[in-house]
Parts: sequence; structure tokens; C-alpha cells
Amino acid sequence: EPVYLNGQFLPLAAAGVSPLDRGFLYGDGVYEVIPVYSRQPFRIDEHLARLQATLAGIRLANPLTVDAWKSVIFRLIADAPWDDQSIYLQVTRGADDKRDHAFPPASVTPTAFAFAGPLVTPSAAVRAAGVAAITVADQRWARCDLKVISLLANVLARQQAVEQGCAEALLIRDGFMKEGAASNIFVVKDGRLLAPPKTQLMLPGITYDVIVDLAQVHGQPLEIREIAETELRAADEVWMTSSTKEVLAITTLDGAPVGNGKPGPLGERMWQWYQDFKN
Ligand code: PDD
Repeated sequence: EPVYLNGQFLPLAAAGVSPLDRGFLYGDGVYEVIPVYSRQPFRIDEHLARLQATLAGIRLANPLTVDAWKSVIFRLIADAPWDDQSIYLQVTRGADDKRDHAFPPASVTPTAFAFAGPLVTPSAAVRAAGVAAITVADQRWARCDLKVISLLANVLARQQAVEQGCAEALLIRDGFMKEGAASNIFVVKDGRLLAPPKTQLMLPGITYDVIVDLAQVHGQPLEIREIAETELRAADEVWMTSSTKEVLAITTLDGAPVGNGKPGPLGERMWQWYQDFKN
């Protein structure tokens, strides 16, 4: 299946980017991951709006209009063999002929790249057991609301989790749990759903918004407020949410059981609400 690069659809093996691309040299770029169910992109307008907000946040003009992005995305979906897909979009500040931290001249055009892969959501067996997570210090920068490709702190946190046999690392800053290395985190305590607020220290997840909406639609008590590390450890349920994980219970945290150590009832209900909503 072809990939999209700078206006062309071509085989992955034929898609080349300069080694002087600022994405490669500086991590100077942005990205999106859009889930596709039965060949229909889910919340595409919201993902493209977040892409636009992130581009504005790094002062890079969007090289494509929303309609142009949509036609790229629909072509990738049509040409891919899978019904459920994950579409990756990336824009970098492009390749100058020299290396300089400051922005390149206006003659340098952004690099726009997109490709489709299979969407692999957690299996029924993984959902039934839940996953293990660790907590780590949040060592990211101060604009975690921007979906940028500079992901080194996220990469190191997730790798630490994997090396401890865990699926995710929950990031703690100043005593509060902000999110996961590549997911948002929800907590259930005494029947109430808690979610951290959207600040510059958390990515505003598209799935997060869906979960908040579903809680409101179904009359589920919800509090959007900072979650202390101590509250995280005392939680009845902890979930991770993202475009690829949907809603997944974290049943072990730093080696200790979350609640009774099994996926909780509210998480199972929310997963079902999410399935009903996405279809
Ligand atoms: N990650 N927080 C972080 C740091 C993330 O990287 C992600 C998504 C999320 C969840 O956002 P959304 O619900 O819009 O997927 C939260 C994507 C999937 C990734 O990097 O692959």
C-alpha cells in the first residue's frame, strides 16, 4: 500500500526524506494518530483540529488544508488492506541546506508524511486481565499539550515500563499524575470518575473527550481536577485511554493491585459505551 509524502503517493521503499530534515535533526515537527473503524476515520475533524492547534503552537503553517488532509486520509484508507486502521500524519519544518536552530528561510517547505497501518486494539484476553503500569517522574517539557514528535522523555518512560514487564508509565509531576507516556489516565474512586484537567502539562486526548462526553451522556458522576499521586494509589479503578488502546484497565500499579486487582465495573461499562459510540 502506498504512503503519502509531500503531495505524492508512492511505495514506502521509494519515499525518501533528506537527512537534513528538521524532524530528523531537531525533532522539529508534529504528528497525529487517527483510528479508522470499518474504513471510517473516527473523529477526523477533532484530530485535524488538534493538528492545526499543535502546528500553531510551534509556529508552523499547515501545508495542507483540512479538505486536502481528508483526501489524503481517505485515499490511504482505500488503498490499505485492513478494515480497521491507524493513520499516522506527520509534518516537520522541512530540510534546509545547513543546520541552524532558528527557523529556516521561507523557501524551505515543510515535510508532510502520512501512512496507514493496521489498528490493533487490546484483545479480549488483555482486556479481561488488564495491564500493569509503573509511575515515573514526568521529565517532559512544559508544552505537553502539543502533539510534537520530540518524544524522548515519553520514549524513555515507556521503555522503563516495558523493561519492568509493564504496558504503560504514568507520569508524575509535582505530586500529581498528569497522563501516561502515550495515553490519558482516568481514575475511579467511590463511584466517581476523575480526570486531570486539560492544561499545558497534558495532551488533550481525542479519546479523553469522548470518555468525558460518554460519562456525561450516561449520567456518570465526573470530576475534572488534578489527581494526586496518593489518590492514584488509593483508586478503585485506573484506566488508560488512547486512539489505539481505547479504554484499557490498569490493574497493577508499581507491583501493587489497583482496587481488587481486576478490571472494574465502570471501566467495563465505559469500554462498552465506547464500542457502541464508535460504531
Ligand atoms: N498517543 N497522551 C499522550 C502523551 C499521547 O501520546 C496520546 C496518544 C494520548 C491519547 O490521545 P488520543 O486519545 O488523542 O489518542 C495522551 C498516540 C496514540 C501515539 O503517540 O501513538
